[in-house]
Amino acid sequence: MEIVTSVLTVYLVVSGACPLSNRYQPEFEKLRAEYQPRGVRFEQVSTDTAEGLRTASRLGARVTPQAVVTGSRGSAVYRGRIDDRMPALGVHRRPTRHDLREAIEALLAGKSPPVRETTAIGCAIAYPPAKATTGVTFARHAAPLLYRHCTPCHHTGGDAPFALESFGDAAPRAAVIAEVVRRGLMPPWKADPGPLEFEGAHRLTGGEIRLLESWARDGAPRGDPGIEPAAPKFQPGWKLGAPDRTVRMQKPVEVPATGEDIYTCVVIPLGLKQTRYVRAFEFKPGNRRTVHHALMFLDASGAARRNGEVYPCFGVPGFLPSASLGGWTPGFGPTSYPPLTAVTLRPGMDLVLQLHYHPTGTIETDQSELALYFTETAPTRRMMDVALGSRNIDIPAGEARYIVRDHFTLPVPVEVTGIIPHAHYICREMRGTAIRPDGRRIPLITVRGWDFNWQRHYRYKHPFTLPAGTRIEMEFLYDNSAANPRNPSNPPRRVTWGGGSLDEMAGLHVQVIPANDDDARELGQSLWGKIMRELGGGILKR
Ligand code: HEC
Repeated sequence: MEIVTSVLTVYLVVSGACPLSNRYQPEFEKLRAEYQPRGVRFEQVSTDTAEGLRTASRLGARVTPQAVVTGSRGSAVYRGRIDDRMPALGVHRRPTRHDLREAIEALLAGKSPPVRETTAIGCAIAYPPAKATTGVTFARHAAPLLYRHCTPCHHTGGDAPFALESFGDAAPRAAVIAEVVRRGLMPPWKADPGPLEFEGAHRLTGGEIRLLESWARDGAPRGDPGIEPAAPKFQPGWKLGAPDRTVRMQKPVEVPATGEDIYTCVVIPLGLKQTRYVRAFEFKPGNRRTVHHALMFLDASGAARRNGEVYPCFGVPGFLPSASLGGWTPGFGPTSYPPLTAVTLRPGMDLVLQLHYHPTGTIETDQSELALYFTETAPTRRMMDVALGSRNIDIPAGEARYIVRDHFTLPVPVEVTGIIPHAHYICREMRGTAIRPDGRRIPLITVRGWDFNWQRHYRYKHPFTLPAGTRIEMEFLYDNSAANPRNPSNPPRRVTWGGGSLDEMAGLHVQVIPANDDDARELGQSLWGKIMRELGGGILKR
């Protein structure tokens, strides 16, 4: 086929309703600035308008964002992704193939593109269907589901980047809603259902997912607005009322428009004159578009501030924390500690926020805030961390089933309140199990489809007791093959233990409260013994 370069047109099919599409905007501008002067025409097609939708359909676009390049005769010579930074929905990594750019370069040189068609990953475009068939409507079926499972985050001023509070909000997004629920990406809840319930669990049943799929396939019909339920209302402001103290980042952090996700630690001196006991806290992101998750640490040693007021920190916070307040992911709400287990703040302590930011396509700034609620009562029960894990990680490139195991036997009975599994990107499955002395197995947590971006602290709805002699086991499965879309290395490389984003970790932290001080001491010694055995006395030799 002969290609006349002067009529090369790049159509960029976008949607303002799709965060993934918005995130690509700076890349579009860059390509346009670079290739427009070389005679390439650029046209942005927005599927948010009826005309744009018709053009997108004519171009054969299926998702936003994607590119279609047409040649001299107006037929498509390239169709697909801009680059490979999104290997699957919900996964972002450093691009290694710039397919659109490579196609344009080849076409400008009078050659065929190296690849004519690639799979674009993005928000499915909601084309109107031929005719509705299933009778599923927004008013009767979709609205109650969306309002219950999605609106708690997706409301104006809420933790998600767009609202799902009305037919007008939901209908243009019907196709992508169906896709994210079918893939289990939304609601963002990674723990499998098990015998033990977690606080705040959000999961759709298979039937609910099929309803949303039918609604989307039928073209998102509204039905009778008269029977539509009212969207739930959410009060702005702190959920536990006026805080005793708020702590805000001293300066805003700037997040660049493009590039990879950013992990930043921000040190905030608390300036306390006297000891305080924290019974609850709530984190409020300063900018919900860009803050993805946050961990809150305390530092009594001054080590964190020696790294600077703001410093990069992926995975590990860059110092040994004196204590942790907890974490936050979108939709998390406030955290109240179990009775008599307040966290102690001492004069001189710094608060360290470890923040994970998403670039959004626009330069963003964030100045997040924390509300603290105090109690006069000093803690008399000790919340302890039974930490299972391993540093002995060495995963060959290409290995698809690498397993890390650890176990620990409780020397004393404990009350179990929560669990925090931790790994980086290539971990796929996590299992924590308690085996009681009578042989009964209790699944503590199962995560299939681990996603680093949605790590969180899982709190049991009903804390429970495990007797002395209970063996806690962990088993994590890692996939370091090229077939794992979350693998940040492409091609895969050998992965060992470490705090960097290309390293791996394996940690299962079971949050427990021993019955009394003696038991706490014994558990502490036993955990210390475990650490010493693993290090083989390495610490003592130094
Ligand atoms: C716990 C909070 C929370 C709940 C509940 C939730 N979402 Fe989201 N949703 C988010 C956040 C935050 C994002 C932004 C993406 C990100 O940060 O990874 C998002 C993004 C999306 C996207 C855009 C796709 C993407 O990956 O950017 C869609 C579509 C979506 N949500 C639909 C839903 C639907 C449908 C439900 C209910 C079935 C739902 N969400 C429930 C927090 C939530």
